[in-house]
Order: sequence, then structure tokens, then C-alpha cells
Amino acid sequence: MTKAQRVNRVKNTLYSEDELLRRLGEIEMIEDSNIRNATIRTFMDGCPDYFWTAPTSSTGKYHSDDECGEYGNLLHTKRVFAEYCNISDSYVEAELITEQAQECGKAAALIHDMMKYGWPSERSNHTVSNHDLIGEDVAIHIGECPRLVGDLVAAHNGPWADGPTPTSPHEWLFHTADKSASGIHEDSRAVYCASDELLEEWPEVHIIES
Ligand SMILES: [Fe+2]
Ligand SMILES: [Fe+2]
Repeated sequence: MTKAQRVNRVKNTLYSEDELLRRLGEIEMIEDSNIRNATIRTFMDGCPDYFWTAPTSSTGKYHSDDECGEYGNLLHTKRVFAEYCNISDSYVEAELITEQAQECGKAAALIHDMMKYGWPSERSNHTVSNHDLIGEDVAIHIGECPRLVGDLVAAHNGPWADGPTPTSPHEWLFHTADKSASGIHEDSRAVYCASDELLEEWPEVHIIES
């Protein structure tokens, strides 16, 4: 039994697949049944309780206010999934990635921050910088996900955490989707400098505080 299987055997309140799909309906948007089933297995057998209710940032850094509150990690996960689906369509159309690879990316988007606070047995009150590598471990050894899912999860933090820095265009895309969906500017429609014409036309335009 691997460490992933050993420490995650307990501490999972998911009592049925229906309950999982109610909380995370995005799983049903994975069309490839093998990848969908691996995603379901990863959550049913590997997801710590904290994933469902914890903030995605324990310090208030790098994420929008709503993602730093209760259920923030779940909200962030759903945003990353939506962002990834939107941007990756262009990569599929340009044949930079295959549809199969995109399916792996959808699974990785749902799994990428599952282990944000580390192994449940280590009871961390803070997010941990190796959650990318732990997430990879859980996806591969508990969920038996395809290798690409593990690679995307491992590199999702780009150059910022413990996992490897992305190398392929797909890994960079995945990291960018995560970063861009984190809502650090509160509003993805906000701008740095609003000129007078813009302010006159849209007085409510959101401005990024720098
Ligand atoms: Fe992360
Ligand atoms: Fe994330």
C-alpha cells in the first residue's frame, strides 16, 4: 500500500458517488469514461474532508476575497475548471493538444488543489507548498489517473512552489488557467488605468489597485 492509500483511507465524508456528483457536477463534463471514472475514484478514495469547506488560501494571499472564505477552495476549483475549458478549446482547435489530453486537463483542474492543506494525517492549518506533488501522488496512486493528469497537477503552480516548472505548452496553459482564475484582481474585467472617456461611459469600471 502506498503512502497515499495509507493516509487517505480515513477522513473522507463522501458517502456516495451521487453525493460527489452533486457537489462537483463538473465531473460529468468529462466525456472520456476512463478519465471520468479515474476522477471519481480519486475523489471517492482520496479526497480529504477539508477540500469541501476550506478557504483556498490560508493567509489571504494570491486569491480573491471570496476564495479566501469558507468553501473558497471549492469555488476556486470550479473557476479553474471553467477557465481551463475555455482556454484549452483554442489549443485543441490549433492541434497543440488532443481532445484526449484536454479530457486529462479537465480531470487535473478538479484535482489540482485537492490536497491544498497536505496529508490529512499531518493536520496542517495552512496550505502547503508541496500540495502539487501530493496531488499528483493521490491522482496517480489512488485514482490511477493517466500520467498526464499527474503531470499537470504536479506542475500547476508554475515556477512558484515545490512541483516542477512547466515544460510543455499544455502544462503552461494549465498553470495559466489556475493563476488567471484565482481572482487576485477581484474581477477579471478590471483595468489598471481608466481614462476619462472610459470613466464617463462606465463610471463603475473596476480599477485594479496597484
Ligand atoms: Fe495550487
Ligand atoms: Fe489552484
